[in-house]
Amino acid sequence: MNPERKQGIYNEKKMSTSILENRPALAAAVWQVAETAGYLWEKGWAERNGGNITVNITEHVDDEMRRMPAISEPKAIGTVLPELKGCWFYCKGTQKRMRDLARDPMANGSIIRILDDCASYEIVADNPVMPTSELPSHLSVHNYLLAKGSPYRASLHTHPIELVAMTHNKKFMEKDVATRLLWSMIPETKAFCPRGLGMVPYLMPSGVELAEATIKAIDDDYDVVMWEKHGVFAVDTDIMSAFDQVDVLNKAALIYIASRNMGFEPDGMTDAQMKELTDTFGLPK
Ligand code: 13P
Ligand code: ZN
Repeated sequence: MNPERKQGIYNEKKMSTSILENRPALAAAVWQVAETAGYLWEKGWAERNGGNITVNITEHVDDEMRRMPAISEPKAIGTVLPELKGCWFYCKGTQKRMRDLARDPMANGSIIRILDDCASYEIVADNPVMPTSELPSHLSVHNYLLAKGSPYRASLHTHPIELVAMTHNKKFMEKDVATRLLWSMIPETKAFCPRGLGMVPYLMPSGVELAEATIKAIDDDYDVVMWEKHGVFAVDTDIMSAFDQVDVLNKAALIYIASRNMGFEPDGMTDAQMKELTDTFGLPK
């Protein structure tokens, strides 16, 4: 057989073996992750393998998927998460780059299912790509969201330059100091990140302690929380919406910095102007 024909058959086989084949809703969810990953790279927030994404895709799982054999050994999550029984997730792979995931989400991430012990998972498709090292935080937050009956299905961790820089100042780590400042820079910030920015003191990446501290901060009524001197963690209905919340916050940080670079401390919107937004748009805070 000529090499071109051989490659053609190989490509067809490769394509037909993707779990995304003939599953348009699942494919759309995964390709939305890929699109978001591209934005993270373009923003400069995703150096090397920086950041991670998980999406609860359980609603897209069919019987044929449930019958699929695992392509990995069971792996421990490191914690027990009872709400995740029977749940499935798309996860960025550990050490994988967002810019690569943007092109090929199933070579740079994988689909996992949680086992019945609620303490371990196995990889089901397409390739045995080990999930992100921040899996304990991501899965603990998904467990928390399900327990609360939240419609949120996506979580994002990324390294937005200006927001991370703010956490290097103790003043901004105090409750709602950064929230108030960022909200006051431009009305859209409060409208589209209406719960503000929670703060999590520095903890080692990828640990269960960081997972627990993240849940505590989200439970304090935030969709977006900062991991001090590291990055941001955001949740929302889908991954694009989680990205949007971080994007509006970082835009506000850039406006603050632009004002400081012009040589003045920005006035910010007044408390009355911000209250007017809350009242007009029925915002939660
Ligand atoms: P992973 O490559 O394991 O997803 O880690 C990236 C990261 O940002 C850790 O905090
Ligand atoms: Zn990180």
